[in-house]
Amino acid sequence: MRSRVVSAMLPLQIQADLMSSSVLFTRRGLLRLGGAAFAAATMPMPGTSQPASEPLRLRAALSRVHLAGVPENSSAVWAYNGGVPGPEIRVRQGEPIRVRAENGLAEETTVHWHGIRTPNAMDGVPHLTQAPIPAGGEFLYEFDAVDAGTFWYHPHQRSSEQVGRGLYGPLIIEEHDPIRVDRDLIWMLDDWRMTDAGEISDDFGNRHDAAHNGRVGNTVTINGTSPEPVAVRRGERVRLRLINAANARIFALDFGDLDPVIVALDGQPVTPHAPAEGIVVIGPAMRIDLVLDMAGHPGSRTTVRDVAYQGLEYDLVEVRYDEAPLRKTVPDWSLDLPANPLREPDIAAATRHKVVFNGGMMGQMMMGDDAASMMQQMRDGAMWFINGQAADGHVMDPLVSMALGTSHVFAMDNRTTWHHPIHLHGHSFRVIARNGEPTRYREWQDTVLVAPEETVEIAFVADNPGDWMFHCHILEHQAAGMMAVVRVGDGATGHRANL
Ligand code: C2O
Ligand code: CU
Repeated sequence: MRSRVVSAMLPLQIQADLMSSSVLFTRRGLLRLGGAAFAAATMPMPGTSQPASEPLRLRAALSRVHLAGVPENSSAVWAYNGGVPGPEIRVRQGEPIRVRAENGLAEETTVHWHGIRTPNAMDGVPHLTQAPIPAGGEFLYEFDAVDAGTFWYHPHQRSSEQVGRGLYGPLIIEEHDPIRVDRDLIWMLDDWRMTDAGEISDDFGNRHDAAHNGRVGNTVTINGTSPEPVAVRRGERVRLRLINAANARIFALDFGDLDPVIVALDGQPVTPHAPAEGIVVIGPAMRIDLVLDMAGHPGSRTTVRDVAYQGLEYDLVEVRYDEAPLRKTVPDWSLDLPANPLREPDIAAATRHKVVFNGGMMGQMMMGDDAASMMQQMRDGAMWFINGQAADGHVMDPLVSMALGTSHVFAMDNRTTWHHPIHLHGHSFRVIARNGEPTRYREWQDTVLVAPEETVEIAFVADNPGDWMFHCHILEHQAAGMMAVVRVGDGATGHRANL
C-alpha cells in the first residue's frame, strides 16, 4: 500500500476552518450552515432571517473542488451544495431540522442522518424507510434534534461510491449547557484513492477491496483538503470534533504531548478520560469529541501522527503555537457534558441475541449449520455474512424482532480476520463488554469497532419503532452483504408500511 508515501509528499496547505465560513441564523428552528457556496446563495440581509418554514436546501451534484496537491489542482467529486464536506448543519438540541434534499446526480440517492435518533421514515434507507430519491427528484427530511453531539450525514444509496466521491457533511447538535472552551473545531477525516492525474480513481466496487479491508485510499484530507498547520495559543482550550467519513480507513491518532481527553463518543457524553495508550482510535463513521489544552510554549510545535497501520505511519497535521499566549496556564473548567435523554437498558431483563460475523479473505473455515449456505452465497457473489446470511441489497426479513420498549443485548462475535465498525440505526447502545470483560466506561455509541476475533456486547432499549439497518460501516463490506435489518415494534413505519 502506498498510502503513507503519497500523502506524506503532499504539500501542506491551509484551509480556513469550517466554523469560520458558517452563517449564523439566530432564530429558533433555523440552521447554521457552513460552506461558501451555500453562504453566498442564501446569506440573509443583516437584521433579517429566513422564515422558520424554509428548509435547508441540500443538493447532491457533480462538482470540482481542491482536494490535494498544488492549490490550483481540482478534482471531480460528487458533493452537497458544491463543497466537500457539504454544509455544516448546526442546531440547538430539541430544535427541528428540516432539509430538502435535491438529487442532481444521474442516479438515485437518499440522505441518512448518521447517529441521529430520527423517526424511521426520516432515516434515509432506500427501499426500507423511503423510496430512493430519483435523479432530478427531491425529498423533505424533517425531525427534531433529540440528542446533542457530533453527527454527520451521507447518502445510503450505493454508499461506497456516493460517499467515496465526496457526499457527506457534519451535523452538530449543540448542548443547551455546553462545556466551556475557547474554540470548537471540526476535523472531518477522509481518505481518497487518487490517480496520478489528480482525479478520484473510479475502481469503486472492486472485489478485492470488498473481500479485504475495503477501499482504503492514498490521500488523507481534513475537511476536504490536505491538512494544514493549525495555529493555537498557549493556554487555549479547544473542543475538537473528529468525524471519520472514510469508506474504510481506521485512524489511530497520536496527539503527542497534547494529551487529549475524550469527552464524547458518537455524539454521546462519556466520562472524560485519556485514550488508551494515548492513541485516539476512530473507525469509519465514528465520531470522537476531544478536549485539548494547549500547554506548549510560544513558537513550539507538535505533530499529530496517524499510527493506525503498522509500517504506514505518517504525519497527519502540525499544531503550531502562536507567539501570543492566551493565558498563562490551562483552564480547569468542567469537562462533563450534560447527558442525553437515552433510556437505560435493563441488562438483567434483557433478551440476548447472538450475532456472528463471517466472511472475507483469510477468514476462519466456515463451520456449523450455515456453512453450506454461506458457500453457496459466496458462489453467488456475497462475501460477508451476519448469522450466516449475506444481504443482497433488497428488502430483507428482520434478523431480530424486538417489542417496543424492551431491553436487548447483542453479543457480537467477529469470526473474521478484519476490523468491522458495526452500526445500528435509530438507537444508541451501551458497549458493555469486550471479550467477556466489562468495559470501563460503558460508553454509548452508534458504531462500535470490533477487532478481528473479538467479541463485543452492546445493550440498548428498543424504543424507536420501525425497521432499522444494522451493518458494517466499511462501505464495501456493507455492499458485499454485511448488513441486516432489525425490527422494533410492528415493523416499518416508513416506506414499507405503505407498500
Ligand atoms: Cu452511516 Cu447505515 O450508516
Ligand atoms: Cu466490515
